[in-house]
Amino acid sequence: MSQLIVSGAQPSGILHIGNYFGAIKQMVNLQSQGECRFFLADMHAQTTISSAEQLQSNIIDLARAYLAVGLDPEKTIIFKQSDVPEVTELAWTLSCLASMPYLMRAHSFKDAQAKDKEVSVGLFNYPILMAADILIHNATLVPVGKDQKQHLEIARDMARKFNSTYGHTFVEPEAYIIESVEIVPGTDGEKMSKSKSNTIPLFATHDEIKKAIMSIPTDSASVADSKNPDTNTIYRIHKLFLTPEQDEVVRAKYVDGGMGYKEAKDMCIESVEHFIAPLRTKFNSISDEDVKKVLAQGKERVRPHVIKQMEIIRAAIGTTL
Ligand code: ADP
Ligand code: TRP
Repeated sequence: MSQLIVSGAQPSGILHIGNYFGAIKQMVNLQSQGECRFFLADMHAQTTISSAEQLQSNIIDLARAYLAVGLDPEKTIIFKQSDVPEVTELAWTLSCLASMPYLMRAHSFKDAQAKDKEVSVGLFNYPILMAADILIHNATLVPVGKDQKQHLEIARDMARKFNSTYGHTFVEPEAYIIESVEIVPGTDGEKMSKSKSNTIPLFATHDEIKKAIMSIPTDSASVADSKNPDTNTIYRIHKLFLTPEQDEVVRAKYVDGGMGYKEAKDMCIESVEHFIAPLRTKFNSISDEDVKKVLAQGKERVRPHVIKQMEIIRAAIGTTL
């Protein structure tokens, strides 16, 4: 069966290497595996951003990032979620099929509640809108990072619930999660996250890379001491940029002793810079006009698909006379 591959990322802040290795790299690689539709989840971003200026600039930067890392608008439909307002219509229907206690089990809600944040209705409904993003295309495969696993389960549950209520309409989308891709740690050793100041931006300048890596806290082990690479934040970040052969050499330097943290950090900075430099050049060469053109073309290409699917959904629900 040929795959219909759908995924998105929120334009909610500056993209970091965790987003790249956890999710976006897989999107780039899947472009040769089926029909791809990748979007910018600007409606989801409204759960955290309420400045028009900020949202606009984030949308432009995320689209620029998609292009810089190798999403190809000739192969892939790249569009803005808000150019498919039908998702909100479908999200409404799905919200009528989901119970409150069911959605209260979602991590996005539980995390916000645990942090004593005020939970908007939008945030509570976040997984429903995400399910609609996927089902409006009748997607078969959804590449995401590990932390989105539960959202994918919810999308599958919603497909089943809709099908059993209104008759078979949706395929159950499969999550595409590479289990061996670990959650990328931030410079503080916790999960790297746009909402924290522990990131290495994907298009960071050399100085930003240096500053971020130099800020990684280290213990009091001496140069001579053997160090455990697997619990070391410098190594865990560094290894993302190494070939298996290079990795073997770097691991040995930790285990054997004889390497201080200054040397470990310098090596890490060099590898990160080597990887980021060409991406940064590409990112900076893409103009706002280029981005707007790609998104306008994406909108034009995606609309007929969702309009058709929405007609099928409305007929199933009974709102078409
Ligand atoms: P953030 O947590 O930084 O706000 P998002 O929630 O917008 O990022 O996530 C965008 C994508 O990047 C998701 O598919 C998510 O799984 C992935 N991702 C985010 N942070 C990491 C990380 N530290 N390691 C691996 N993948 C990540
Ligand atoms: N929730 C996803 C994230 O934070 C973004 C997203 C929104 C998404 N809708 C989606 C991902 C649909 C895949 C499919 O990364």
